[in-house]
Amino acid sequence: LDDDWPGEPSESYWRQQLDQAEQDLRQGEWSAALGRVSAPSLQTSARARYVKARALDATAEARRDNRLLSQAIAAYIDLLKMNERLSDKKLIEVTDRTLERIKFRGTYLSAEPVYKLLIRRFPDNPNYRNNLTVSLLMANRADLAETVLKETLKRWPNDHVALAHLGFILKISYNRLEEAVDAFKKALEDQTGPANEPRFYYHYGDALLLLGRFNEAHEVHKRGAALGHFLSPNQRSLYNVERLKSKPWWNVENTPYTKLARALERSWRQILEEGESLRALYEKEKEGLKERGEWSQLDLFARGSEIPGRCKKAPVTCSIVRQEVAAAGCRRGQIKFSAMEAGTHVRPHVGPTNCRLRMHLGLSNTKDTYIRVDKETRQWQTGKVLLFDDSFEHEVWHNGTGTRLVLIVDVWHPDLTPTERRQLPAI
Ligand code: LMR
Ligand code: MN
Repeated sequence: LDDDWPGEPSESYWRQQLDQAEQDLRQGEWSAALGRVSAPSLQTSARARYVKARALDATAEARRDNRLLSQAIAAYIDLLKMNERLSDKKLIEVTDRTLERIKFRGTYLSAEPVYKLLIRRFPDNPNYRNNLTVSLLMANRADLAETVLKETLKRWPNDHVALAHLGFILKISYNRLEEAVDAFKKALEDQTGPANEPRFYYHYGDALLLLGRFNEAHEVHKRGAALGHFLSPNQRSLYNVERLKSKPWWNVENTPYTKLARALERSWRQILEEGESLRALYEKEKEGLKERGEWSQLDLFARGSEIPGRCKKAPVTCSIVRQEVAAAGCRRGQIKFSAMEAGTHVRPHVGPTNCRLRMHLGLSNTKDTYIRVDKETRQWQTGKVLLFDDSFEHEVWHNGTGTRLVLIVDVWHPDLTPTERRQLPAI
């Protein structure tokens, strides 16, 4: 015990109190434990702080109470401020649990001081640095992640995980695609090890596609599929349910969505009018998917819910899609108008999930517009529906004139069970 807790109070009374608090903790008497360690004389005791954090943590878990969980995380971090009083073993035990709780709570930025401690204590282990990078990326702080990453690479220039993150940041934050490709290439040269993750293969191949280096992209996609990172070289969504029937183009007659499709087709003129009346609200596509041109969209539904107020302005469209819960309630998709200007080319890309099918209702200027999904290219027709699986690679050209308008309606993949439709996390 003394090895784990050097520098604790020596008076036997306080030692007994701490022993007793630890026993309370082991017996699940969390509030008794908390009461004991709240004594003013124990405020600078690491053991007391440990008991407090564990007791709050256990209570939060039992009550599924996020506010208590935040207090527990704060208590762990308070304990870690006394890190010089913790043995290596104790420090690892406490930081493991703290980091696990922080990830569960989703407050990734608060992992930073915890990792910094580990890095200081174990300066020769690059994993703590790499995990800090991941946490900072999860917290949407690519700027901070980059600083950490640069230090890691200075000392471990060939660390594959660090190189993969470098590729990721170069691509996502800076659009420096050639350099991203070089980093990914080195990171993924061996096909095992911790850098071997689906998302790195995805971004490696995607960067090559964006550069127009199609043969190399295809090699990466084949390798990724062979390693089980993708459903197939051309179906590269990352959020998948494995068993779903998978094909690029669907015939609506062979799905439960014929009624929806026919209702949309019957009302296409009113839907077009609603789509046009809302033009001022459309937002430009900014994911870097188009090689040239202009492309903007307006969501009516996203993640299975109406964007507040939108349906007031598109009542016919909304009343039709609301008749089909697999559309209006599709938490892995959207319902949106998509307007593409003449001369636009959308580069090959894939959607995030195989859990939806994407219905398009052609509304205007569909002449000389093309959509390739996997190996087959089709054309929109005004007033007619197309149905495809956008987890397959697809590409769009508007070689005609005027603004091509379509209504996009995502529907749950027909093979998903009601439970899956309820429980899959939204995208
Ligand atoms: C896509 O989802 O990439 C395109 O089909 C969208 C569009 O407006 O054609
Ligand atoms: Mn797309």
